[in-house]
Amino acid sequence: MNPGKILEKRIISGKSVVFRYPKLFDAKGAMETINSQVEERADIAKMTKVTLQQEKKWVSSVLKAVKGKEKVFIAIEAGGQYAGSCEVTKDRMESQRHVGTLGIGLRKEIRSLGIGKRAMRLAIREAKKIGVTIVRLDVYNTNKVGQRLYKKLGFHVTGKIKNLALHYGKRKDGITMVKYL
Ligand SMILES: CC(C)(COP(=O)(O)OP(=O)(O)OC[C@H]1O[C@@H](n2cnc3c(N)ncnc32)[C@H](O)[C@@H]1OP(=O)(O)O)[C@@H](O)C(=O)NCCC(=O)NCCS
Repeated sequence: MNPGKILEKRIISGKSVVFRYPKLFDAKGAMETINSQVEERADIAKMTKVTLQQEKKWVSSVLKAVKGKEKVFIAIEAGGQYAGSCEVTKDRMESQRHVGTLGIGLRKEIRSLGIGKRAMRLAIREAKKIGVTIVRLDVYNTNKVGQRLYKKLGFHVTGKIKNLALHYGKRKDGITMVKYL
C-alpha cells in the first residue's frame, strides 16, 4: 500500500474530487471532518469531538490496518481539502474473515453529488481484493439518505435492532444491511 496513492480523480460539480489511500498527514483533515459531523449531529454513532492527538493515533492505526490488508480505506479530497472517507474493515473472527463492515461519512458541503456512491463502489472493489465477499453495515432508521444509497448499491435489509442507539436523547433503531459480492 502506497500512502496517498490516487485511485481516481474526477471533476464533480466544478470541484476536483480525489479518491485515494490515506496518509499520516490526513489527521487534521480527518479530525475536522468527523468533528463537523458531530457538530451537525449527523446520523452516525459518534457524538463527541476528537482531538488532533486522538486522530493522529487513529490515522496511524488505520494505516497499519490497510498495510496489513485488514482494512480498505478511501480518503476523499474535494477542492484540495480532506472531506470524507469510506472504509471496509475485515472481521477479526476466524470463521468470518470474508466479512467486511462498511462505514462512510462526508462533510455536509459535498453531499448529494454522487461522491458517496462513487467512494462506496471503489471501497467495495478494493475490499474484494483483500478477500471480502460479504459487506455489512448498520444504519439508523432515521438516516433515509444512507438507506437509499445502500439500496441503490445492492444492499438488502437483513434485520433490525430496536433502540440500538440513544442518539442525543432519542432512541433509534439499527437497520442491518448486507451485500454479497
Ligand atoms: C450518507 C452519505 C454517505 C451519502 O453520500 P452522498 O455523497 O451524500 O450520496 P450520493 O450523492 O452519492 O447519493 C447516493 C444516493 O443517496 C440518495 N441521496 C443522496 N442525497 C440525497 C438527498 N439529499 N435526499 C434524498 N436522497 C438522497 C439518492 O438515492 C442517491 O442516489 P441517486 O443520486 O442515484 O438518486 C452522506 O450523506 C453522509 O456522509 N452523511 C452523513 C454521515 C452518514 O450518515 N454516514 C452514514 C452512516 S450509516
